Amino acid sequence: MPIRTAAHSIEIESYVETHLVQQQPGLIHARENSLKHGIPTIAVSTVQGKFLSLLTSLSGAQNVLEIGTLGGYSSIWFAQTTKARGGKLTSIEIDSSRREVALQNLQVAGINVPTEAEILLGAALDVLPKLAEEISAGTRPKFDFVFIDADWENQWRYFDLAVGLSKGKGSVIYVDNVVKEILESGIVGPEKRNETVTPLVEKVGQDGRVEAVVMQTIGAKQHDGFLMAVVK
Ligand SMILES: C[S@@+](CC[C@H](N)C(=O)[O-])C[C@H]1O[C@@H](n2cnc3c(N)ncnc32)[C@H](O)[C@@H]1O
Repeated sequence: MPIRTAAHSIEIESYVETHLVQQQPGLIHARENSLKHGIPTIAVSTVQGKFLSLLTSLSGAQNVLEIGTLGGYSSIWFAQTTKARGGKLTSIEIDSSRREVALQNLQVAGINVPTEAEILLGAALDVLPKLAEEISAGTRPKFDFVFIDADWENQWRYFDLAVGLSKGKGSVIYVDNVVKEILESGIVGPEKRNETVTPLVEKVGQDGRVEAVVMQTIGAKQHDGFLMAVVK
């Protein structure tokens, strides 16, 4: 059967949102306040936020690391889940004005900074080694769940470092927008492939530390998908 129902993917997502996602003033405010401050509308969809929250619960995660905060929309979903377990969200953002908006949004959503969430300012490749030092010094716990949602160029380096920062067996590393990246970098599809870069999926496939899969999604963000890895 042809995937004719994909034509209705946006309506389906809206139907799901109406019936399965409770309206939360803090999350609605985060979207509106981000828009007001000129932040691009590239946060996860509401349904994906709920999915990430359920996945965090399912994995039993207490300490979540997010790379790429933007206005803190996905941060709120994570922090609500980790807060309920006595844990914490740590997020990294390179842009100071976006970080400021994220801090406002977390506060309005009832998330205490820094006890329930921290937004660290800087380039992830500079911040991640500092987190590793703090973990080694015993001043910071290891992470059970890492959400990678920043620049595509460094995805493999983030992934590699994230495995090292994770608690170990059963920890989850989730990389967003991997299907868009597969298409846009010409690994599959009509674009010309950049042969100088080994794509994330191929590197992860050779990484003996994890078991991973990519799931394609269709919804408010059209055709996309994520890579999810579990540490062995
Ligand atoms: C797709 S947005 C994150 C969306 C957010 N996770 C959400 O769903 O609400 C990506 C963010 O990563 C940030 N970013 C890009 N490169 C970065 C880097 N090298 N280090 C840290 N953050 C970075 C961007 O400024 C942007 O705000």
